[in-house]
Amino acid sequence: MLNDVERILFHEQTILSRLDELAREITEAYRGKELTVVAVLNGSLIFAADLLRRIQLPLKLDCLSVASYHGGTESSGVVTFKQLNTPDVDGRHVLVIDDILDSGRTLHAVCQRLRKEARPASVRVCVLLRKRIARAEELEADFVGFDIGNEFVIGYGLDYQEHYRNLPFVGVLKHEVFAGSLASAGEGQ
Ligand code: IMP
Ligand code: MG
Repeated sequence: MLNDVERILFHEQTILSRLDELAREITEAYRGKELTVVAVLNGSLIFAADLLRRIQLPLKLDCLSVASYHGGTESSGVVTFKQLNTPDVDGRHVLVIDDILDSGRTLHAVCQRLRKEARPASVRVCVLLRKRIARAEELEADFVGFDIGNEFVIGYGLDYQEHYRNLPFVGVLKHEVFAGSLASAGEGQ
């Protein structure tokens, strides 16, 4: 796995220190309120697990499984929900957590669905990574771990064709790893 990494962007300790700060920001922003976290799986699993344990607020946790279809490393824009039921967020302050804000389609679809199926008191978005690119959908993240360039990254929950999620750091995938498989479509979050 390590041989497939071009370079490390954020080491584990850097990520965890940033999560301490993010958790403080979130704790302050919701002080006096009860939070409902909606974690978008699978990509946010590790991020959410580490972040939530640092937030000092009463909270509920729900998960949503979403798939966006990829040809190689490009998102095609099709977002499908893998389960029929949406978490019950009526009247709740919702914080949607995802691994990365790229085109914005996934988080746009998730927020739209939560607002359509219930009347949440508020919906905000938290991502570990935000790519500095023009978004296909208008969506801004309220809490961001790190801004990155337009590179394909893996590790700390992020995958390439379901691999590399268990790397403890965030790194850039070597170009030759996906160069050979750009034509074959993969699926995953
Ligand atoms: P969006 O809908 O284009 O914003 O992309 C959202 C999903 O695409 C993320 O939740 C990731 O699963 C995946 N994704 C986008 N960029 C990357 C990347 O650089 N590495 C790994 N997955 C990515
Ligand atoms: Mg993915």
